Amino acid sequence: MPQRTFSIVKPDAVRKGYTGAILAEIDKAGFRIVAVRKQSISKPQAEGFYYVHKERPFFNDLCTFMSSGPLVLLVLEKDNAIADLRGLMGATNPANAEEGTIRKKFAGSIQENAIHGSDGEDTAAFEIGYWFAGYELL
Ligand code: CMP
Repeated sequence: MPQRTFSIVKPDAVRKGYTGAILAEIDKAGFRIVAVRKQSISKPQAEGFYYVHKERPFFNDLCTFMSSGPLVLLVLEKDNAIADLRGLMGATNPANAEEGTIRKKFAGSIQENAIHGSDGEDTAAFEIGYWFAGYELL
């Protein structure tokens, strides 16, 4: 059964010109793009998206970073999409990311780590609904 997940090409990767290369990795791995939108987000929008992290010490810096420039919002679909995307992304900290992963290739630091992917079914549903209306999922 195809499963959907949510992803973001983060502002660091967009700024460095890696958007196309990251989308190519996602495509090569067999994901179908259900929705895609390049936009800038406000800091309050970032705070709402990352509310589960609001008590974490990095929360304020993270939300400042995420609102620092354009990013690319994505809804992706394939069998086992959530786990497969996390495998393709690699560890949160690029210093620990496996060879061949997106973060190993494109991420600069634990915060500016090139890509986001949902970590479970509930978060995927929340994250897709936070950024996209049902009619945009094609
Ligand atoms: P992401 O997968 O989008 O989920 C939360 C984000 O917080 C994470 O990627 C990083 O961009 C950022 N972050 C910054 N510092 C840390 C940290 N110490 N641990 C985990 N995530 C961090």
